[in-house]
Order: sequence, then C-alpha cells, then structure tokens
Amino acid sequence: MTFFEELSRACGPGALLQDPALIAPYVTDWRGTFTGRALAVVRPASVNEVAEIVRVCAQNRVAVVPQGGNTGLAVGATPLDAGDAVVLSLVRLNRIRDLDADGFTISVDAGCVLADVRERASQAGRLFPLSLAAEGSAQIGGLISTNAGGTSVVRYGTMRAQVLGLEVVLADGTRLDGMRALRKDNAGYDWKQLFIGAEGTLGIVTGAVLKLVPKPRFVATALLGIDRLQDAVRAFGVLQHMLGETLSAFEFFPQRAVALRLAHEPALAPPMGERAWYLLVEASSALALDDAFETALAETLDGGCAADAVVATDSNRRHELWMWRESITEHERRAGPSAKHDVSVAISQVPAFVIEATAAVEARFSGARVLAFGHIGDGNVHFNVLLPADGSIPREDVTAVVHAMVRQYGGSITAEHGIGRYRREDLLAQRSPGEMALMRAVKRALDPSGVMNPGAVFS
Ligand code: FAD
Ligand code: MLT
Ligand code: ZN
Repeated sequence: MTFFEELSRACGPGALLQDPALIAPYVTDWRGTFTGRALAVVRPASVNEVAEIVRVCAQNRVAVVPQGGNTGLAVGATPLDAGDAVVLSLVRLNRIRDLDADGFTISVDAGCVLADVRERASQAGRLFPLSLAAEGSAQIGGLISTNAGGTSVVRYGTMRAQVLGLEVVLADGTRLDGMRALRKDNAGYDWKQLFIGAEGTLGIVTGAVLKLVPKPRFVATALLGIDRLQDAVRAFGVLQHMLGETLSAFEFFPQRAVALRLAHEPALAPPMGERAWYLLVEASSALALDDAFETALAETLDGGCAADAVVATDSNRRHELWMWRESITEHERRAGPSAKHDVSVAISQVPAFVIEATAAVEARFSGARVLAFGHIGDGNVHFNVLLPADGSIPREDVTAVVHAMVRQYGGSITAEHGIGRYRREDLLAQRSPGEMALMRAVKRALDPSGVMNPGAVFS
C-alpha cells in the first residue's frame, strides 16, 4: 500500500482531503498572514482513528501538524512551506462524553468547541469558566495545547487549572488514557502537565476531564473610564480588596481601540464620554451581590482612580459593554498588518511598561501605532503595533524593540498565546541554555523522530 492508501484506511472514508481547494483553509493562520503547504488534511472522528493516523505517519516519517479551531495567534497550527506534513484536524472529534453535575466535572473530546462546552455546562447549572473572544471556534484540545488564558484568569486561572484528566496519542501512535476525574492524585509524575501548553509538539490531545464551578446567578459588568493608566492599578487594588474572589474580570483597552471600532461601525454610539483608557470589570457570585459592586465602583470614583463609570446587569447590556473589549482583535485584523505581542510583566509595572514601550516604538518607527490592551488583572498586555500596509516597517524590527523592553522589565514574551512558529526565534532570548536543553530533552524523549509539529516552539 502507498502512504496515502494507508492514511485513507486509517482515517475512514471521506476524511482524507488532498484537493488544494479543500486544504486551503487549513494551511493559513487566523490572521491570514502565514500560509504553508501540506501533503494532505485528515479529519478523524474517533480516538482510534487518531492513533492509527499518527502510527502510519510515524512509520513513514511524515510530520503531523495538529489543528483545532485554527484560532491560535502564534501560528502553531499552520504547516511549514516545505509541504511535507499532514494536518490532523480534530474538528470531527467533538463529542461531549459525560457531565457529572454533582461532581462538577465534564469529560469531552478534544475537538469540542469551547462555546459548546460552556453551553452544556450552563444547561446543567454549572460554569466552565474559561472564556475568550474566539470561543465560537477554539477547541478544548487547542486551548489545552496553548494553555489558553482569556478574560477570567484573574479569578479562575488559565486552562491548566481547569484540567483534571487527559487522554493523548503519543508520537508513535500509542494511546494514553488519563481520563481521571480525580481532585487529588500523587501517583508518580503528573505527566498530563507536559502536554498542557506543548503546542502539539509532544503528542495529540484527544480528550480531557475538565473542572466545572457553580454557575453564578448574579453578574454585574462595568466600564470605567480612566485618564491615566497608573489609575488602573490603583482601581485593581481597590476592587480586589472590596470584591474579593467575586471579581471575575479586569481588562483594559485604550481610546484608540474605541476609535478603531467606530471607524468600522460608524452607526455605533461610543460607550461613554471619551477617556484615555477604559477598564472592563465584572463581578459574579452564586449569592446576591447586593450593592457590593456599586459600592466598590463608587470607591474607585471617589478615590480618584476612575473618572467615569457605566454599569450593566442585564445580559444584553453586559454583552454590549463586553463587545468593546472582545471585538478589538477582529477590528485590528481588518485594519491591516500588525506586529502582535503577548507580553506579561508584574501587574503594578504594566502602566510604566506600556508608556515606555509605546514611546520607544512610536519614536523609532514613524507610521507605527501602538494598540495596547488586554488582561491587566493578569499583568498581560497585547502590545500590538499597527503597521503601514506598504510593508515599510519590518515586523521583526518592532518586535526586537518590544521584547528588549520586556526583558528589562523581567517579563515574558508570551503570557498566553504561546511560541508557535511566530516567536520561536525569540524563545532563545527568553529561556536560559539550561532551560532550552531541558525542553529539548523532553521533546526528544517523547518524539524521538521529530514528527510532532516540527517547526513549532523549536526552530
Ligand atoms: P489551534 O489554533 O488550532 O492550535 C493552536 C496550537 O495547539 C497549535 O500549536 C496546534 O498544533 C495545537 N493543537 C491544537 N489542537 C491540538 C490537539 N488536540 N492536540 C495537540 N495539539 C493541538 N488566546 C488566549 O489565550 N486568550 C485570549 O483571550 C484569546 N483571545 C483570542 C481572541 C481572538 C479573536 C482570537 C482569534 C484568538 C484568541 N486567542 C486567545 C488565541 C486562541 O483562541 C487560543 O490560542 C486557542 O487556545 C486556540 O485554540 P484552537 O482550537 O483554535 O487551536
Ligand atoms: C485577546 O485577549 O483579545 C487576544 O488574546 C488578543 C490579541 O489579539 O492579541
Ligand atoms: Zn488575550
């Protein structure tokens, strides 16, 4: 049998795509900036099919690029230009296996879409707390493989904190079943942690047992207008102190993001009178919040850390406020090329970092416009830089300036999106030779033939 005949037999009828027109959506990243090539795309519908496909690829020394919803922002799911890899899409492996409402767990296939998992949990009176703007397409396997963050990390942590059990297919096709719903389990190495955030370079995630939390019955959202970014950190201190663990989101964005959206959607009214920066904050609880949220917001206004505030408790109005924050990435894509950065620094250092890095970038690159926004409650800034369409400012030059400043602040070049193929050269400056050697040793141990997602994370 030829390789393609073996592959076709492994993935079942109709699940092997070779027509370039059908393959095209799988070989370009979400931003539309990078396009690779692939031998084929396979779309298995069962874990056994995944295992068989990986075994066939490993035996033939053909690389496998795992792909979930293809919403990643680090170009980890896009094959290289060599055209010698198979893209393995998890899109058909999308069954919710089980929900244990009293045990607060849900077991899912890796290809389940985040919004569907949240909806299923909600129907059972539970919350799966991870939330991000791409949740209509991003899959559980992709979210695990990038250790995704999103807008509720401030309260619930990243994807890693939600995973109780994991099922993976190793680089030689072996299936490891760790679908355990245990809260405590110290039996040897906790191997699942290796695959969380591995960006598909160590194996394929095929299933997961995830934690659920009580579904909040009271949710209140507010948009605060602030004049100086330093005030955001003071407001965070006040709100954390007064709201405790009910504070479930603390995000920031600039007036420039509001202007960008209004330019694309001119019929919209601005969310409030113009301010330099905006904070999107949310509190939620199973018990009534009473006036705790308003009291805490009043404290930020009285204490001079916020200049203006609008509050929403009904879901439509809350959604409208959220859209000012969640649509930024889409509007940025429509605006043209950009150099994307996903940095983290200590929370209290965010204002100084943003101000200093903005001044450095805009002074050095005439025509570049910084759009800094994100998860300030996690110290995570999407320090994105809009670039002229004519390509006159090389993205790499801008990134060199931003990442040098990140290093000065003792921060990280990626807080949540990962390394992928977008930042792999920058990883070397972020991690010591000893750390790189350890990571390479792990890679060699789990994927000795180097078939799992080559070119991602490591050059
Ligand atoms: P893909 O893009 O398909 O893949 C991502 C990586 O995981 C690749 O390296 C791929 O090879 C690997 N992979 C995918 N599935 C598997 C699997 N089953 N097994 C092994 N490896 C696999 N990210 C955040 O963290 N926080 C945000 O707030 C956020 N907001 C976003 C907003 C928008 C509008 C967009 C477009 C993206 C945003 N992202 C955010 C990035 C993205 O949604 C996340 O990285 C998400 O986790 C990717 O999931 P996916 O299923 O689309 O994965
Ligand atoms: C978000 O938080 O909206 C995305 O992670 C940000 C981005 O586009 O860089
Ligand atoms: Zn983000």
